[in-house]
Amino acid sequence: MSTAKLILDGQEFELPVVVGSEGEVGIDITSLRSKTGAISLDPGYGNTGACRSSITYIDGEKGILRYRGYPIEELVNSSLSFVDVSYLLIYGEMPDAQQKAEFSYLMTRNSTIHEGMKNFFDHYPPGTHPMAILSAMMASMSGYYPTEDDEGNIVRILAKAKTIAAYAYKKSIGEPFMYPVPKNSYAANILYMMFAHPREEYEVPEVLEKALRMLLILHGDHEQNCSTSTVRMVGSSGTNLFASISAAIMALWGPLHGGANQQVIEMLEHIRDNGGDYREYVDKAKDKDDPFRLMGFGHRVYKNFDPRAQILKKQCDDVLDYLGIQDPLLDIAKHLEDVALHDSYFIEKKLYPNVDFYSGIIYKALGIPTDMFTVMFALGRMPGWLAHFREMKHDHDTRINRPRQIYIGAGERHVSEDLAG
Ligand code: CMC
Repeated sequence: MSTAKLILDGQEFELPVVVGSEGEVGIDITSLRSKTGAISLDPGYGNTGACRSSITYIDGEKGILRYRGYPIEELVNSSLSFVDVSYLLIYGEMPDAQQKAEFSYLMTRNSTIHEGMKNFFDHYPPGTHPMAILSAMMASMSGYYPTEDDEGNIVRILAKAKTIAAYAYKKSIGEPFMYPVPKNSYAANILYMMFAHPREEYEVPEVLEKALRMLLILHGDHEQNCSTSTVRMVGSSGTNLFASISAAIMALWGPLHGGANQQVIEMLEHIRDNGGDYREYVDKAKDKDDPFRLMGFGHRVYKNFDPRAQILKKQCDDVLDYLGIQDPLLDIAKHLEDVALHDSYFIEKKLYPNVDFYSGIIYKALGIPTDMFTVMFALGRMPGWLAHFREMKHDHDTRINRPRQIYIGAGERHVSEDLAG
């Protein structure tokens, strides 16, 4: 194994180099402080590998995304269901026929929530964001199920999250809760529980189910992003899976992360309502004195294109064509993308549309309300979070996550001196 050399105050230190299965190189600095007295400083962790992982591989320069080695494009275009892909992410291999049947049975068996938990929905004030409800309900599940049963809870969380999400929506519109239907796929059940009514026949339209399946798979995992790192950070303290996932949902809610999908649609609506001048928004995004950012643009890892956004852009056309919907927001989005992609600011900073740029247009076409977009992202990301928690628990390198800091505050001073002055 090669080593890296570090010279600090004229003294040379050797640090081991770690190479991943795709040739990624990391300098192992676990002994840095004990050897040199110094720490590494990396605000935002842009250069920090926090673990070894075998779940997802991303090459941000080449626009590659693979789950357990399988390219995202192949998974999306296959006959695999979202539950199959979840199994793959969590357990590492495609399920065989028996595993598929067993997992599918467990998903169905666990898909309702404790009847007592239904009462919780009555007590959120109207207008409570469904991400807040999803996170709070997730944490509350720790009171209903054995917290030490990680393997059982992985299945419970995956199966019940969609039910909680749909109930939050039903409550917000004052309609009765609908139980999931065993014959439905995961994606179909989300739509069924959101849009079916006890007094009407409702068959989930296949095109909507397919579009939602695709969106869920595309969001399945994305290695050490903010919410997934939250799962690992919170879980590293030894707390239970419900607590870790509840925290991850909160991290995802932020507008720089999963919350961007809601922000994108609101931005496009704003542009439409103000006469459609998208150039003005590009200028605002470039203005150093304006905090505005073009939502749905840019990514910490992708510096060429986001493969998920490419799939989604094409799907937008197909889904809207199929449904006979002409959404002016899609035209605005395409114009905005075109202007930004030819603008030197965006070119130099390597800012491209990310997964959140086009996903909202499809969610909207499916009839999903704007404040549920990030919830849909959370449902898609659930297997990724669960896979990372499980991997972390089985990893002998796992220690409590506890970064250090470089203190830049006041030197020692004394209360008595200040009082005297
Ligand atoms: N619009 C305008 N300028 C931008 C944008 C944007 N969307 N994104 C980055 N920049 C600029 C930024 O101002 C900075 O300029 P300078 O170097 O002059 O200070 C430069 O590009 C680098 O930005 P950064 O904030 O240091 O980059 P980052 O890797 O820390 O942040 C990001 C990545 C995704 C948070 C950021 O690009 C952003 O805020 N995008 C908009 C929000 C968004 O779409 N988020 C969804 C991300 S993908 C899905 C997910 O993670 O959930």
